[in-house]
Amino acid sequence: MGKSFHFHPIFCILIAILTTSYAQDCNTYTFSNNNVYATCVSLPALNSQLHWNYHPTNATVDVAYRQTGVSTSQWAAWALNVDGSGMVGAQALVALISSNGSVQAYTSSVTGYATGLQPSGLSFGVPRITAEMVNGDVVIYATLVLPGGRTSFNQVWQVGPVNGGSPAPHRMGSDNANLLGRVDFSTGETSADGGNVGGSRQRRRNTHGVLNAVSWGVMMPMGAMAARYLKVFKSANPAWFYIHVTCQASAYIVGVAGWATGLKLGSDSVGIKYNTHRNIGIALFALGTLQAFALLLRPKPENKYRFYWNIYHHATGYTVIILSIVNVFKGLDILDPEKQWKKAYIGILISLGVETLIFEAYTWFVVLKRKQDDDKIGHVSNGYTQSA
Ligand SMILES: *[C@@H]1O[C@H](CO)[C@@H](O)[C@H](O)[C@H]1NC(C)=O
Ligand SMILES: *[C@@H]1O[C@H](CO)[C@@H](O)[C@H](O)[C@H]1NC(C)=O
Repeated sequence: MGKSFHFHPIFCILIAILTTSYAQDCNTYTFSNNNVYATCVSLPALNSQLHWNYHPTNATVDVAYRQTGVSTSQWAAWALNVDGSGMVGAQALVALISSNGSVQAYTSSVTGYATGLQPSGLSFGVPRITAEMVNGDVVIYATLVLPGGRTSFNQVWQVGPVNGGSPAPHRMGSDNANLLGRVDFSTGETSADGGNVGGSRQRRRNTHGVLNAVSWGVMMPMGAMAARYLKVFKSANPAWFYIHVTCQASAYIVGVAGWATGLKLGSDSVGIKYNTHRNIGIALFALGTLQAFALLLRPKPENKYRFYWNIYHHATGYTVIILSIVNVFKGLDILDPEKQWKKAYIGILISLGVETLIFEAYTWFVVLKRKQDDDKIGHVSNGYTQSA
């Protein structure tokens, strides 16, 4: 039972890495040509991102459009629709990945739904366009001369298959429909006016939710279980201590990142304030930080104050776990995601609860058995002493 995989410290580190990589925003992406872009947005569907530098002096914008998870024989396109919205009228930058993996970049003005994305000039200047494929991502680099002194446009993006060397129509599944929204190159704001897609704010809310639900709501209870239930195995001493510290430290790091995204969301949200959720969040950060310091200030096991330190450490720890779970539910109510997220979290809690019951029973069994054995040994040695 002590070998239960989720008590391995690697597991905690793995969860931490996976969670933060989900939350990684586009700012951390490094382009192969080391170009640095001042602004970036994660587009709300198809895992694509738009990075750019806007030059007000000559009304140009250098863009890098990145579409992840593409393969050979696919096309990817990103477009501004200057006068309308959606696909018809889109002034597109196209990357065509042939079956041998070579990438061709060109512009295409879309005049109707039956487009084959043939190369053509755009209604505004594009002095430079190139594209490359890196690690399954295709990146289109281009310079656009923004028309009419405007900085705000409707945008569309799409991917599709390549057939016989030419772009073929894209799929019409929910992920491929309604990929449109607005982008403002000057303010960096994007919004989605295309039906079922969310904006970048929604994405930040989801990121906040995932970071905190995983760190405070799952990893910390697991770290506490590691301490309580591994300690009982003599062979797991002092391993349980390092497992506990590793798990709680990685949970704390992810948790602080999630906490910071929450503060930003709170300061950006006008009108509605979620005071209870916010206050519990601040209390959790304070208590979590206290626990981190408690680790550094803990008296040696034989110190007479260690007993009080243990009480304090356990009381704070259990408070953090209870408040965390309460706050994850409060957050889920605010975020109001699809029902399955709440169900998934409840499912995780139930499985942790069941494991807790089993481990608890097993721990008592081991402790009582050990006591019984000790008593027996005590009798034998007593008898021995008496007869000696
Ligand atoms: C526009 O101006 C920026 C600097 O302000 C410069 O780096 C860029 O090359 C210019 N672009 C064009 C197309 O002239
Ligand atoms: C790959 O395919 C493209 C067009 O299909 C062709 O122009 C190019 O020469 C090919 N490259 C190699 C390395 O075979």
